[in-house]
Amino acid sequence: MIRLHLSCLHAAVLSATLAIQCVAFAGAQSTQMAETPPMGWNSWNHFAGRVTDADVRAAADAMVASGMRDAGYVYVNVDDTWQGQRDSKGYIHPNSRFPDMKALADYVHSKSLKFGIYSSPGPKTCAGFEGSYGHEEQDAQTYADWGVDFLKYDLCGLREIMHLYDPRQDPVRASTIMRDAYAKMHGALVKTGRPIVYSICQYGVDNVWEWGAQVGGNLWRTTDDISDSFRSMALIGFSQTGLEHYAKPGHWNDPDMLEIGNGGMNADEYRTQMSLWAMLPAPLLAGNDLSTMDDATKSILMNREVIAIDQDRLGIQGSRVGPLQLWVKPLSGGAKAVALFNFVTDDVPQPILLRLKDVGFQGPVHARDLWAHKDLGLLHDSYSVTPPKGGVVMLRLWE
Ligand code: GLA
Repeated sequence: MIRLHLSCLHAAVLSATLAIQCVAFAGAQSTQMAETPPMGWNSWNHFAGRVTDADVRAAADAMVASGMRDAGYVYVNVDDTWQGQRDSKGYIHPNSRFPDMKALADYVHSKSLKFGIYSSPGPKTCAGFEGSYGHEEQDAQTYADWGVDFLKYDLCGLREIMHLYDPRQDPVRASTIMRDAYAKMHGALVKTGRPIVYSICQYGVDNVWEWGAQVGGNLWRTTDDISDSFRSMALIGFSQTGLEHYAKPGHWNDPDMLEIGNGGMNADEYRTQMSLWAMLPAPLLAGNDLSTMDDATKSILMNREVIAIDQDRLGIQGSRVGPLQLWVKPLSGGAKAVALFNFVTDDVPQPILLRLKDVGFQGPVHARDLWAHKDLGLLHDSYSVTPPKGGVVMLRLWE
């Protein structure tokens, strides 16, 4: 089939009809993937540029041993700094910290997990390693041959070729070049015939949520990098209001990875990240060292009742109700998840009043507290609760 042998960009050059077919095909491909927000682990937040093959194997081992895999975490993703040099034919090779990428992917697959990798549309990645510019089809095929199931494609390096991509000189042209670069790699991934989840990482520039799906993205970063502090996490997470319309099965807003277990926040604050990411619903990519995590971290990452909110098959993004941090997310079967966040800066936590009519219920509802793992019985008109400072109370309500 010609659609399988042409990238969308080539198709667009050849004919408008082919371009439409190609977009339809690409859309169908990406909708079959990431039907719910991808769950897994990524090396960057904890290991950054030090990550090794052994670290990734240990993460895969821990994902199984801890029960994370059975709770739904399946992607084991190597972020930046795995790349070595290209050979005389242009093929990319990993550096000495990753002796054999295919063997690593096989190891991850042997655990019934999936394997992810990272590159850039520029000549170099954010950390200055080899990017995919000019080698898109070759790299996509290499990834497919290795058994890659997920690609994070990070803008940074495109900024180095300012003669092409220069938003200060010509923002419209720069935007087109950027979008084409993302579409080009998507076409290359489709051409391999292997389903590879496509993660667009360009920090939300040019309202990526408006066009990310058109260039084949299954998820797109909506913000700058997260760091392991309440301030960073809360600013990013609570700023996702307004993007509800763009999240749907196959295509997700991505407010960056989890910091749970990395040590910069307390357990209440990490429960806030887990709850807020589930309400959005965001990809749940753990960013800690899985092989050394404590029981508190495990209980947050593996709260199956909260994971079920993130993975609800309707894929409707939650939204804030009123001026306080009261969030509601419609779920399949007519239920709703409600999260009451204590996002205050003063030391004395204040009660938050949940009025059932504010979250769309007329009569009494059953309620379950998803962090206390406790049924609350029937709620009639309202529920008043004081979440701990920086913390959250998360409920499932149904009639
Ligand atoms: C960017 C991305 C991060 C990470 C680094 C790697 O900053 O946003 O998530 O991938 O690059 O260099």
